[in-house]
Amino acid sequence: MKIDPWSSATYQDYKRLRDEFGIEEFTEKLWKDLPHPHKLLRREVIIGQRGFQLIHDSVKTKKPWAILTGLMPSGKMHLGHKMVIDEVIYYQSIGADVNLAVADIEAFATRGHTLKETKDYALNEYIPNYIALGLKPEKTRIYFQSTNTEVKDLAYLLGKKINWSQMQATYGFNGSINMAHVFSPLVQTGDILHVQLEKYGGNRPTLVPVGVDQDPHIRLCRDIAQAHRFYNVTVTKDNKIGVFIKIDENIDKLLDNAEKILKTLKFNKLKRITKYKAIYIEDATEQDIQKIDETLAKSETKFGGYGFFQPSATFHRFITGLTGDKMSSSKPESAIFLTDSPKDASKKIMNSKTGGAVTLAEQKKHGGRPDECVVYELFLYHLIDDDKELHDIYTSCKNGAKMCGECKKQASQLMEKLLLSIQEKRKKAKEKMKKYLV
Ligand code: TRP
Ligand code: SF4
Repeated sequence: MKIDPWSSATYQDYKRLRDEFGIEEFTEKLWKDLPHPHKLLRREVIIGQRGFQLIHDSVKTKKPWAILTGLMPSGKMHLGHKMVIDEVIYYQSIGADVNLAVADIEAFATRGHTLKETKDYALNEYIPNYIALGLKPEKTRIYFQSTNTEVKDLAYLLGKKINWSQMQATYGFNGSINMAHVFSPLVQTGDILHVQLEKYGGNRPTLVPVGVDQDPHIRLCRDIAQAHRFYNVTVTKDNKIGVFIKIDENIDKLLDNAEKILKTLKFNKLKRITKYKAIYIEDATEQDIQKIDETLAKSETKFGGYGFFQPSATFHRFITGLTGDKMSSSKPESAIFLTDSPKDASKKIMNSKTGGAVTLAEQKKHGGRPDECVVYELFLYHLIDDDKELHDIYTSCKNGAKMCGECKKQASQLMEKLLLSIQEKRKKAKEKMKKYLV
Protein backbone atom coordinates (compact mmCIF):
# COMPACT_ATOMS: atom_id res chain seq x y z
CA MET A 1 0.00 0.00 0.00
CA LYS A 2 1.07 3.57 -0.72
CA ILE A 3 -0.47 6.80 0.51
CA ASP A 4 -1.07 9.15 -2.39
CA PRO A 5 -1.48 12.71 -1.10
CA TRP A 6 -2.95 13.87 -4.39
CA SER A 7 -5.64 11.22 -4.77
CA SER A 8 -9.10 11.43 -3.29
CA ALA A 9 -8.71 8.30 -1.17
CA THR A 10 -9.58 8.75 2.50
CA TYR A 11 -7.43 6.06 4.19
CA GLN A 12 -9.75 4.88 6.91
CA ASP A 13 -7.89 1.84 8.14
CA TYR A 14 -6.07 3.73 10.85
CA LYS A 15 -4.62 0.71 12.54
CA ARG A 16 -3.05 -0.37 9.29
CA LEU A 17 -1.66 3.13 8.75
CA ARG A 18 0.00 2.88 12.11
CA ASP A 19 1.32 -0.64 11.58
CA GLU A 20 2.52 -0.13 8.04
CA PHE A 21 3.93 3.37 8.19
CA GLY A 22 4.84 3.78 11.83
CA ILE A 23 2.38 6.55 12.56
CA GLU A 24 1.97 6.53 16.34
CA GLU A 25 -1.23 6.60 18.32
CA PHE A 26 -2.43 9.93 19.69
CA THR A 27 -2.86 8.64 23.21
CA GLU A 28 -4.64 10.45 26.03
CA LYS A 29 -1.30 10.87 27.78
CA LEU A 30 -0.26 13.28 25.03
CA TRP A 31 -3.19 15.69 25.24
CA LYS A 32 -5.10 15.20 28.49
CA ASP A 33 -3.00 17.65 30.49
CA LEU A 34 -2.77 20.35 27.82
CA PRO A 35 -4.75 23.50 28.60
CA HIS A 36 -8.46 23.16 27.70
CA PRO A 37 -7.97 20.40 25.08
CA HIS A 38 -9.93 21.07 21.91
CA LYS A 39 -12.86 18.87 20.96
CA LEU A 40 -11.00 17.49 17.96
CA LEU A 41 -8.30 16.20 20.31
CA ARG A 42 -10.78 14.88 22.88
CA ARG A 43 -12.94 13.00 20.38
CA GLU A 44 -10.41 10.87 18.56
CA VAL A 45 -10.60 12.91 15.40
CA ILE A 46 -6.84 13.11 15.67
CA ILE A 47 -5.97 9.50 15.02
CA GLY A 48 -2.20 9.58 14.94
CA GLN A 49 0.97 11.53 15.44
CA ARG A 50 4.69 11.62 14.95
CA GLY A 51 6.93 13.23 17.54
CA PHE A 52 4.09 14.92 19.43
CA GLN A 53 5.81 14.33 22.78
CA LEU A 54 8.15 17.19 21.92
CA ILE A 55 5.20 19.55 21.47
CA HIS A 56 3.55 18.33 24.63
CA ASP A 57 6.75 18.99 26.57
CA SER A 58 7.21 22.43 25.03
CA VAL A 59 3.71 23.42 26.11
CA LYS A 60 4.23 22.08 29.61
CA THR A 61 7.59 23.77 30.06
CA LYS A 62 6.47 26.95 28.26
CA LYS A 63 9.24 26.77 25.67
CA PRO A 64 8.70 28.29 22.24
CA TRP A 65 7.27 26.11 19.50
CA ALA A 66 5.72 26.72 16.11
CA ILE A 67 2.78 25.62 14.03
CA LEU A 68 3.24 25.33 10.32
CA THR A 69 0.57 24.02 8.03
CA GLY A 70 -0.77 24.81 4.63
CA LEU A 71 -3.74 24.51 2.34
CA MET A 72 -3.95 24.51 -1.41
CA PRO A 73 -6.05 27.47 -2.51
CA SER A 74 -8.18 25.65 -5.01
CA GLY A 75 -11.91 26.28 -5.10
CA LYS A 76 -14.04 26.95 -2.08
CA MET A 77 -13.28 26.25 1.55
CA HIS A 78 -15.46 23.57 3.16
CA LEU A 79 -15.89 22.00 6.61
CA GLY A 80 -12.96 19.64 6.02
CA HIS A 81 -10.62 22.60 5.57
CA LYS A 82 -12.17 24.39 8.53
CA MET A 83 -11.09 21.55 10.77
CA VAL A 84 -7.37 22.22 10.16
CA ILE A 85 -7.82 25.89 10.92
CA ASP A 86 -9.77 25.04 14.09
CA GLU A 87 -6.80 23.00 15.23
CA VAL A 88 -4.40 25.81 14.40
CA ILE A 89 -6.49 28.29 16.36
CA TYR A 90 -6.47 26.00 19.36
CA TYR A 91 -2.69 25.63 19.24
CA GLN A 92 -2.37 29.37 18.89
CA SER A 93 -4.38 29.74 22.10
CA ILE A 94 -1.90 27.54 23.98
CA GLY A 95 1.21 29.39 22.90
CA ALA A 96 2.30 28.40 19.39
CA ASP A 97 3.41 30.94 16.87
CA VAL A 98 1.46 30.28 13.70
CA ASN A 99 2.76 30.02 10.15
CA LEU A 100 0.37 29.26 7.31
CA ALA A 101 1.44 28.42 3.80
CA VAL A 102 -0.74 29.28 0.87
CA ALA A 103 0.26 26.28 -1.20
CA ASP A 104 -0.08 27.99 -4.54
CA ILE A 105 2.94 26.30 -6.11
CA GLU A 106 1.51 22.92 -5.23
CA ALA A 107 -1.93 23.84 -6.59
CA PHE A 108 -0.27 25.09 -9.75
CA ALA A 109 1.90 22.00 -10.12
CA THR A 110 -0.65 19.34 -9.22
CA ARG A 111 -4.10 20.77 -9.84
CA GLY A 112 -3.55 22.77 -12.98
CA HIS A 113 -4.50 26.18 -11.57
CA THR A 114 -2.76 29.35 -12.67
CA LEU A 115 -1.02 31.40 -10.00
CA LYS A 116 -3.52 34.16 -10.69
CA GLU A 117 -6.43 31.83 -9.85
CA THR A 118 -4.80 30.54 -6.69
CA LYS A 119 -4.12 34.09 -5.56
CA ASP A 120 -7.78 34.98 -6.00
CA TYR A 121 -8.91 31.93 -4.06
CA ALA A 122 -6.47 32.73 -1.28
CA LEU A 123 -7.34 36.41 -0.95
CA ASN A 124 -11.09 36.15 -1.44
CA GLU A 125 -11.86 32.79 0.09
CA TYR A 126 -9.28 31.07 2.27
CA ILE A 127 -7.63 33.89 4.20
CA PRO A 128 -10.85 35.80 4.99
CA ASN A 129 -12.24 32.54 6.32
CA TYR A 130 -9.18 31.89 8.50
CA ILE A 131 -9.73 35.28 10.06
CA ALA A 132 -13.47 34.80 10.41
CA LEU A 133 -12.90 31.48 12.15
CA GLY A 134 -10.94 33.27 14.85
CA LEU A 135 -7.28 33.19 13.91
CA LYS A 136 -5.56 36.02 15.80
CA PRO A 137 -3.12 38.35 14.05
CA GLU A 138 -0.60 38.27 16.88
CA LYS A 139 2.22 35.81 16.23
CA THR A 140 0.65 34.80 12.90
CA ARG A 141 2.06 34.95 9.44
CA ILE A 142 0.43 33.81 6.25
CA TYR A 143 2.64 33.62 3.18
CA PHE A 144 2.50 32.40 -0.40
CA GLN A 145 4.86 29.61 -1.43
CA SER A 146 5.43 31.32 -4.77
CA THR A 147 6.80 34.52 -3.24
CA ASN A 148 8.79 33.14 -0.33
CA THR A 149 12.44 32.96 -1.34
CA GLU A 150 13.63 31.13 1.77
CA VAL A 151 11.08 28.39 1.27
CA LYS A 152 12.02 27.88 -2.36
CA ASP A 153 15.76 28.01 -1.66
CA LEU A 154 15.43 25.43 1.09
CA ALA A 155 13.37 23.22 -1.19
CA TYR A 156 16.19 23.24 -3.67
CA LEU A 157 19.09 22.88 -1.26
CA LEU A 158 17.49 20.27 0.99
CA GLY A 159 16.76 18.19 -2.08
CA LYS A 160 20.44 17.30 -2.09
CA LYS A 161 19.85 14.57 0.47
CA ILE A 162 17.06 12.76 -1.30
CA ASN A 163 17.32 10.83 -4.54
CA TRP A 164 14.94 9.88 -7.30
CA SER A 165 14.55 6.27 -6.18
CA GLN A 166 13.40 7.45 -2.76
CA MET A 167 10.94 9.86 -4.35
CA GLN A 168 9.56 7.10 -6.54
CA ALA A 169 9.31 4.68 -3.66
CA THR A 170 7.49 7.28 -1.55
CA TYR A 171 5.10 8.67 -4.14
CA GLY A 172 4.97 6.11 -6.93
CA PHE A 173 5.88 8.73 -9.54
CA ASN A 174 6.10 7.44 -13.08
CA GLY A 175 7.76 8.73 -16.21
CA SER A 176 5.01 11.10 -17.30
CA ILE A 177 4.91 13.14 -14.09
CA ASN A 178 5.74 16.83 -14.54
CA MET A 179 8.80 18.10 -12.74
CA ALA A 180 6.98 20.86 -10.85
CA HIS A 181 4.83 18.12 -9.33
CA VAL A 182 7.92 16.07 -8.47
CA PHE A 183 9.36 19.14 -6.78
CA SER A 184 6.25 20.05 -4.79
CA PRO A 185 6.98 17.75 -1.80
CA LEU A 186 10.32 19.51 -1.49
CA VAL A 187 8.55 22.86 -1.46
CA GLN A 188 6.43 21.47 1.36
CA THR A 189 9.63 20.46 3.16
CA GLY A 190 10.79 24.04 2.64
CA ASP A 191 7.51 25.24 4.16
CA ILE A 192 7.84 23.07 7.21
CA LEU A 193 11.51 23.65 7.93
CA HIS A 194 11.93 27.32 7.04
CA VAL A 195 10.29 28.41 10.30
CA GLN A 196 13.40 27.09 12.05
CA LEU A 197 15.69 29.48 10.20
CA GLU A 198 17.12 32.25 12.37
CA LYS A 199 15.00 34.86 10.61
CA TYR A 200 11.77 33.03 11.44
CA GLY A 201 12.45 32.19 15.06
CA GLY A 202 15.30 29.68 15.00
CA ASN A 203 15.50 25.99 15.79
CA ARG A 204 12.52 24.84 17.78
CA PRO A 205 9.83 22.16 17.85
CA THR A 206 7.34 22.57 15.01
CA LEU A 207 3.96 20.91 14.77
CA VAL A 208 2.33 20.21 11.43
CA PRO A 209 -1.36 19.40 11.81
CA VAL A 210 -2.56 17.63 8.67
CA GLY A 211 -4.80 14.89 7.30
CA VAL A 212 -3.46 11.34 7.16
CA ASP A 213 -3.00 11.62 3.41
CA GLN A 214 -0.09 13.98 4.07
CA ASP A 215 2.02 11.43 5.92
CA PRO A 216 4.40 10.75 3.00
CA HIS A 217 5.37 14.43 3.07
CA ILE A 218 5.88 14.29 6.81
CA ARG A 219 8.09 11.22 6.56
CA LEU A 220 10.10 12.80 3.79
CA CYS A 221 10.51 16.00 5.73
CA ARG A 222 11.54 14.27 8.95
CA ASP A 223 14.12 12.20 7.05
CA ILE A 224 15.50 15.26 5.31
CA ALA A 225 15.69 17.25 8.55
CA GLN A 226 17.66 14.41 10.12
CA ALA A 227 19.89 13.93 7.09
CA HIS A 228 21.08 17.52 7.27
CA ARG A 229 22.16 17.31 10.89
CA PHE A 230 25.87 17.31 11.78
CA TYR A 231 25.55 15.43 15.07
CA ASN A 232 23.88 12.15 15.79
CA VAL A 233 23.26 11.20 19.41
CA THR A 234 22.53 7.55 19.92
CA VAL A 235 22.88 4.40 21.97
CA THR A 236 25.83 2.34 20.77
CA LYS A 237 25.96 -1.43 20.34
CA ASP A 238 27.63 -1.82 23.71
CA ASN A 239 24.91 0.28 25.35
CA LYS A 240 26.74 3.55 25.73
CA ILE A 241 25.50 6.97 24.78
CA GLY A 242 27.57 8.45 22.00
CA VAL A 243 27.72 11.67 20.04
CA PHE A 244 28.84 11.07 16.46
CA ILE A 245 29.74 13.53 13.75
CA LYS A 246 28.12 12.72 10.46
CA ILE A 247 30.12 14.97 8.17
CA ASP A 248 33.76 15.09 7.20
CA GLU A 249 34.57 18.75 7.62
CA ASN A 250 35.35 20.66 10.82
CA ILE A 251 35.63 17.47 12.82
CA ASP A 252 37.92 18.85 15.50
CA LYS A 253 35.88 22.00 15.93
CA LEU A 254 32.65 20.02 16.10
CA LEU A 255 34.10 17.67 18.70
CA ASP A 256 35.39 20.62 20.74
CA ASN A 257 31.98 22.22 20.55
CA ALA A 258 30.21 19.03 21.61
CA GLU A 259 32.60 18.54 24.50
CA LYS A 260 31.98 22.04 25.73
CA ILE A 261 28.22 21.65 25.49
CA LEU A 262 28.25 18.28 27.25
CA LYS A 263 30.21 19.79 30.11
CA THR A 264 27.75 22.64 30.51
CA LEU A 265 25.04 19.97 30.60
CA LYS A 266 26.98 18.47 33.54
CA PHE A 267 28.31 15.37 31.87
CA ASN A 268 31.86 14.77 33.00
CA LYS A 269 32.84 11.28 31.98
CA LEU A 270 33.56 11.95 28.34
CA LYS A 271 35.73 9.81 26.09
CA ARG A 272 36.68 11.46 22.85
CA ILE A 273 37.89 9.27 19.98
CA THR A 274 38.72 11.49 17.08
CA LYS A 275 39.24 8.73 14.56
CA TYR A 276 35.65 7.53 15.15
CA LYS A 277 34.48 11.16 15.09
CA ALA A 278 32.85 10.34 18.41
CA ILE A 279 32.45 11.30 22.03
CA TYR A 280 31.16 8.63 24.37
CA ILE A 281 29.34 9.89 27.44
CA GLU A 282 29.71 7.41 30.23
CA ASP A 283 27.56 9.26 32.73
CA ALA A 284 24.55 9.69 30.40
CA THR A 285 21.50 7.46 29.98
CA GLU A 286 18.95 7.07 27.25
CA GLN A 287 16.71 9.64 28.95
CA ASP A 288 19.37 12.27 28.36
CA ILE A 289 19.49 11.83 24.59
CA GLN A 290 16.75 14.28 23.72
CA LYS A 291 18.17 17.10 25.78
CA ILE A 292 21.69 16.53 24.46
CA ASP A 293 20.48 16.30 20.88
CA GLU A 294 18.44 19.52 21.12
CA THR A 295 21.31 21.48 22.57
CA LEU A 296 23.72 20.21 19.93
CA ALA A 297 21.22 20.92 17.15
CA LYS A 298 20.94 24.54 18.19
CA SER A 299 24.71 24.90 18.02
CA GLU A 300 25.00 23.57 14.46
CA THR A 301 24.14 26.89 12.86
CA LYS A 302 27.47 28.24 14.13
CA PHE A 303 29.16 25.80 11.77
CA GLY A 304 26.99 26.56 8.79
CA GLY A 305 24.44 23.82 9.46
CA TYR A 306 20.67 23.97 9.84
CA GLY A 307 20.33 22.12 13.13
CA PHE A 308 16.72 21.27 12.43
CA PHE A 309 14.51 19.66 15.04
CA GLN A 310 12.56 16.91 13.30
CA PRO A 311 9.08 18.32 12.76
CA SER A 312 6.20 16.77 14.69
CA ALA A 313 2.84 16.03 13.12
CA THR A 314 -0.70 15.15 14.04
CA PHE A 315 -3.01 13.37 11.63
CA HIS A 316 -6.72 13.90 11.63
CA ARG A 317 -9.33 11.66 10.07
CA PHE A 318 -11.47 13.07 7.30
CA ILE A 319 -15.01 14.22 7.83
CA THR A 320 -17.38 12.18 5.70
CA GLY A 321 -19.20 13.99 2.93
CA LEU A 322 -22.96 14.46 3.25
CA THR A 323 -23.38 11.98 0.41
CA GLY A 324 -21.57 9.29 2.39
CA ASP A 325 -18.27 9.42 0.51
CA LYS A 326 -15.52 12.02 0.63
CA MET A 327 -16.31 15.67 1.32
CA SER A 328 -14.96 17.30 -1.78
CA SER A 329 -15.10 20.73 -3.40
CA SER A 330 -15.64 19.09 -6.75
CA LYS A 331 -18.91 17.56 -5.48
CA PRO A 332 -20.91 20.48 -4.02
CA GLU A 333 -23.69 18.26 -2.62
CA SER A 334 -21.10 16.37 -0.55
CA ALA A 335 -19.69 19.47 1.13
CA ILE A 336 -20.84 22.38 3.23
CA PHE A 337 -18.87 25.42 2.14
CA LEU A 338 -18.20 28.22 4.59
CA THR A 339 -19.84 30.56 2.09
CA ASP A 340 -23.00 28.43 1.70
CA SER A 341 -26.24 30.14 2.66
CA PRO A 342 -27.96 28.53 5.65
CA LYS A 343 -30.74 27.49 3.28
CA ASP A 344 -28.37 25.63 0.95
CA ALA A 345 -26.57 24.03 3.87
CA SER A 346 -29.86 22.95 5.36
CA LYS A 347 -30.93 21.38 2.07
CA LYS A 348 -27.72 19.35 1.95
CA ILE A 349 -28.20 18.23 5.54
CA MET A 350 -31.81 17.25 4.91
CA ASN A 351 -30.71 15.12 1.94
CA SER A 352 -27.77 13.55 3.72
CA LYS A 353 -27.06 9.93 4.42
CA THR A 354 -27.74 9.17 8.09
CA GLY A 355 -27.27 6.10 10.23
CA GLY A 356 -31.02 5.76 10.69
CA ALA A 357 -33.06 2.61 10.13
CA VAL A 358 -35.22 2.05 7.06
CA THR A 359 -38.50 2.72 8.81
CA LEU A 360 -39.44 4.84 11.79
CA ALA A 361 -40.86 1.85 13.59
CA GLU A 362 -37.66 -0.06 13.19
CA GLN A 363 -35.58 2.86 14.37
CA LYS A 364 -37.73 3.26 17.48
CA LYS A 365 -37.24 -0.40 18.20
CA HIS A 366 -33.54 -0.90 17.38
CA GLY A 367 -32.16 2.65 17.40
CA GLY A 368 -29.89 4.34 14.90
CA ARG A 369 -26.18 4.08 14.22
CA PRO A 370 -24.52 7.39 15.11
CA ASP A 371 -21.09 5.94 14.30
CA GLU A 372 -22.13 5.65 10.69
CA CYS A 373 -24.01 8.91 10.46
CA VAL A 374 -22.80 12.07 8.75
CA VAL A 375 -25.20 14.23 10.75
CA TYR A 376 -23.65 12.93 13.92
CA GLU A 377 -20.24 13.76 12.47
CA LEU A 378 -21.37 17.35 11.96
CA PHE A 379 -22.20 17.57 15.66
CA LEU A 380 -18.97 15.91 16.65
CA TYR A 381 -16.56 17.88 14.46
CA HIS A 382 -18.23 21.25 14.22
CA LEU A 383 -21.50 21.92 15.95
CA ILE A 384 -21.41 20.84 19.57
CA ASP A 385 -18.65 21.78 21.99
CA ASP A 386 -20.10 20.28 25.11
CA ASP A 387 -19.13 16.62 25.50
CA LYS A 388 -22.15 15.74 27.61
CA GLU A 389 -24.56 17.21 25.09
CA LEU A 390 -22.89 15.24 22.34
CA HIS A 391 -23.00 12.09 24.39
CA ASP A 392 -26.73 12.59 24.98
CA ILE A 393 -27.34 12.72 21.25
CA TYR A 394 -25.30 9.59 20.85
CA THR A 395 -27.24 7.60 23.40
CA SER A 396 -30.67 8.88 22.45
CA CYS A 397 -29.92 7.93 18.84
CA LYS A 398 -28.69 4.48 19.84
CA ASN A 399 -31.66 3.72 22.04
CA GLY A 400 -34.20 4.85 19.51
CA ALA A 401 -35.44 7.95 21.31
CA LYS A 402 -34.16 10.33 18.66
CA MET A 403 -35.37 10.26 15.05
CA CYS A 404 -33.40 11.43 12.05
CA GLY A 405 -35.86 14.11 10.95
CA GLU A 406 -35.65 16.14 14.14
CA CYS A 407 -31.97 15.42 14.42
CA LYS A 408 -31.30 16.85 10.96
CA LYS A 409 -33.35 19.89 11.88
CA GLN A 410 -31.27 20.42 14.98
CA ALA A 411 -28.09 20.14 12.91
CA SER A 412 -29.46 22.61 10.35
CA GLN A 413 -30.26 25.14 13.04
CA LEU A 414 -26.83 24.90 14.60
CA MET A 415 -25.24 25.06 11.16
CA GLU A 416 -27.23 28.17 10.35
CA LYS A 417 -25.90 29.85 13.48
CA LEU A 418 -22.35 28.86 12.66
CA LEU A 419 -22.51 29.96 9.03
CA LEU A 420 -24.11 33.28 9.87
CA SER A 421 -21.49 34.03 12.47
CA ILE A 422 -18.68 33.20 10.02
CA GLN A 423 -20.41 35.28 7.36
CA GLU A 424 -20.67 38.23 9.69
CA LYS A 425 -17.02 38.06 10.68
CA ARG A 426 -15.91 37.54 7.11
CA LYS A 427 -17.31 40.96 6.22
CA LYS A 428 -14.70 42.65 8.36
CA ALA A 429 -11.96 40.15 7.62
CA LYS A 430 -10.74 41.68 4.38
CA GLU A 431 -9.76 44.95 6.02
CA LYS A 432 -7.78 43.05 8.61
CA MET A 433 -5.95 40.86 6.14
CA LYS A 434 -2.83 43.05 5.98
CA LYS A 435 -2.01 42.28 9.58
CA TYR A 436 -1.68 38.59 8.76
CA LEU A 437 0.07 38.66 5.42
CA VAL A 438 3.80 38.96 4.93
N1 TRP B 1 0.09 19.48 0.68
C1 TRP B 1 -0.92 20.14 1.45
C2 TRP B 1 -2.31 19.83 0.84
O1 TRP B 1 -2.40 19.07 -0.06
C3 TRP B 1 -0.73 21.62 1.52
C4 TRP B 1 0.57 22.04 2.14
C5 TRP B 1 1.56 22.74 1.52
C6 TRP B 1 1.03 21.81 3.46
N2 TRP B 1 2.58 22.96 2.36
C7 TRP B 1 2.29 22.43 3.55
C8 TRP B 1 0.48 21.15 4.57
C9 TRP B 1 3.06 22.38 4.72
C10 TRP B 1 1.24 21.11 5.73
C11 TRP B 1 2.51 21.70 5.80
O2 TRP B 1 -3.29 20.35 1.28
FE1 SF4 C 1 -27.88 10.21 12.77
FE2 SF4 C 1 -29.42 11.64 14.34
FE3 SF4 C 1 -30.45 9.76 12.78
FE4 SF4 C 1 -28.99 9.11 14.88
S1 SF4 C 1 -30.94 10.15 14.91
S2 SF4 C 1 -28.84 8.22 12.84
S3 SF4 C 1 -27.48 10.76 14.91
S4 SF4 C 1 -29.47 11.62 12.11
